[in-house]
Amino acid sequence: MKAFVLEKYGRPLRPVDMPVPEPGPHQVLVRMIASGVNHADERTRTGEFKAVFRLDLPKVMGGELSGEVIAVGSQVTGLAVGDLVYGYTGVVAMGTWAEIVAVDADSLAPAPRSIPLVQAAALPVVALTAWQALVTIGRLEAGQTVLVHGGAGGVGAAAIQLAKHLGATVATTASASSAEVVRDLGADVIIDYRNEDFVERLAGTPVDIVIDTQAGEVTSRSLEVLRPGGIVVGIAGTPDPALADQAGAGPVVKLALSALSLRLRRRASRLGVRYRFLFIEPDGEALRAVAGLVDDGVLKPVVDRVLPFDDTPAALDQLLAGGTRGKVLVTIDSKEVTTHA
Ligand SMILES: NC(=O)c1ccc[n+]([C@@H]2O[C@H](COP(=O)([O-])OP(=O)(O)OC[C@H]3O[C@@H](n4cnc5c(N)ncnc54)[C@H](OP(=O)(O)O)[C@@H]3O)[C@@H](O)[C@H]2O)c1
Repeated sequence: MKAFVLEKYGRPLRPVDMPVPEPGPHQVLVRMIASGVNHADERTRTGEFKAVFRLDLPKVMGGELSGEVIAVGSQVTGLAVGDLVYGYTGVVAMGTWAEIVAVDADSLAPAPRSIPLVQAAALPVVALTAWQALVTIGRLEAGQTVLVHGGAGGVGAAAIQLAKHLGATVATTASASSAEVVRDLGADVIIDYRNEDFVERLAGTPVDIVIDTQAGEVTSRSLEVLRPGGIVVGIAGTPDPALADQAGAGPVVKLALSALSLRLRRRASRLGVRYRFLFIEPDGEALRAVAGLVDDGVLKPVVDRVLPFDDTPAALDQLLAGGTRGKVLVTIDSKEVTTHA
């Protein structure tokens, strides 16, 4: 089978002919239909994550998928051959930029029935990020206020829709050309980040949760818009020591991450608010809930473009170049199973 493999950190991706993987007892084998490309894929390729997440190279890259189950491991109970599934494999397991992938069954869920299977590949990373930020960490309650930075991006679009569904008032930052997109997604307050200061715009509107898809100044200034006890959930900026525990990294890495985030955490503490870094984890159960929201018309995948699988490196380049609205996907087999119907 064809796969895009990371042979050495920093090397360009190239297609390689690989043997079809064998599923372990708790895994299923999935014939890929589509995969998303993510900024994290590039950070993995360059080695930016290597101090925290240890990989045995060479490794097939890619983390999210939609496809059809073609074999199940001996201990798998919830999935069967022929099921159409979607999921996120995680930053260490990866493996989805291939024609066939062996995936932990716990990382998968039946794909939403109301959208084409290709589009289901647009959801796992962004929906899990929004879910783990707003529900798992933020414990968002109806009536609260959420600020989503970069509302027209992949994560931002999912976060706006989920926060609205959960009963929040949603403010978002976006460039002027994205204003209509974020309004359609349900944003109540739209801030043009190129021409307006979000802290000034939100003065008098205390925020309960900020989802920070940016870094640096944006993260630090986001602490200022929170009500006492509020939280900035950072996903792109400064990692905190909890990431070392999550990754199973040693005390040296934990100390380094602690030092890296010290200024931010101290500032948060002085302001009576919190900062937490989120690095998403695979979660088939949350994806079952997400599929329900999609089928109920609450959450729509936002797809910027779909490229052929052979163009995976170009798809990643296009995401990194900026200006995309929603997800960039690659499709391995768009002609075959694309809907449940
Ligand atoms: N930690 C995790 O588990 C995790 C998970 C998923 C993603 N992430 C990270 O989250 C970030 C966003 O991911 P994504 O897939 O949503 O990216 P994306 O689709 O490329 O979207 C990025 C968005 O950021 C907006 N933007 C650029 N500069 C901005 C600024 N100064 N203020 C506010 N918005 C700004 C852009 O808006 P306009 O187009 O309107 O200009 C764009 O819509 C990436 O760094 C990614 O690596 C982390």
